[in-house]
Amino acid sequence: MTDHAPAGARQSPSTARNREPILQALGSRLTPGARVLEVASGAGEHAMFLAARLPVAAWQPSDPDPDALGSIAAWRDHAGLANLAAPIRLDAADPATWPPGPFEAVVCINMVHISPWAATLGLMRGAGRALVRGGRLFLYGPYIEADVATAPSNLAFDESLKARNPAWGLRDLAEVKAAAAAEGLAFRERVAMPANNLMVMFEKAGVGTGAAGSS
Ligand SMILES: C[S@@+](CC[C@H](N)C(=O)[O-])C[C@H]1O[C@@H](n2cnc3c(N)ncnc32)[C@H](O)[C@@H]1O
Repeated sequence: MTDHAPAGARQSPSTARNREPILQALGSRLTPGARVLEVASGAGEHAMFLAARLPVAAWQPSDPDPDALGSIAAWRDHAGLANLAAPIRLDAADPATWPPGPFEAVVCINMVHISPWAATLGLMRGAGRALVRGGRLFLYGPYIEADVATAPSNLAFDESLKARNPAWGLRDLAEVKAAAAAEGLAFRERVAMPANNLMVMFEKAGVGTGAAGSS
């Protein structure tokens, strides 16, 4: 596996910076043999990197954007990893596009603030259904927190996102936790990450609904 982008694959400098910390945060929190659904895989670089470094996990990348799906597929062809599945079209806000699962983990990197709130609500609903009991939802990105001063760089990022699309912007972590709780996903952990980002982990507890209920 090399890091040179093959034809049709997109590459982002931010992924080169954040993929190692994301690997460290995820690696110790995924159960061996975990089936992982990645929502909003974007270019597919994280999918390729994480599937390569976590060979015990079975990685299912996804995105709603056709260009992203092409890029993920190009990285996947390039990497030739047995545990990296072909990408699927998944719009978090559209329940009809969610695979039935079950999955031990759902991973969503940098989507919550770069999509309308409906995508986050759909993410919670979909994860609540597709995860096994005890399954984990991991969110990576910047958040607003009532008891933590927001970094100036995150405030500027928030403004730039809202200028691009008024429906985007950094979310209040308390509201994200409430949306998760409404779908049976209990907040478990907040991990501080470089560059004022967080990895936030939720766990599906109790008797599940849908496909994961009997798992
Ligand atoms: C900033 S990119 C992040 C991509 C990748 N996870 C990363 O960190 O490089 C945001 C991604 O969210 C995806 N996205 C936007 N709305 C979505 C939705 N409703 N459901 C799933 N993905 C969505 C976009 O297509 C895009 O690939």
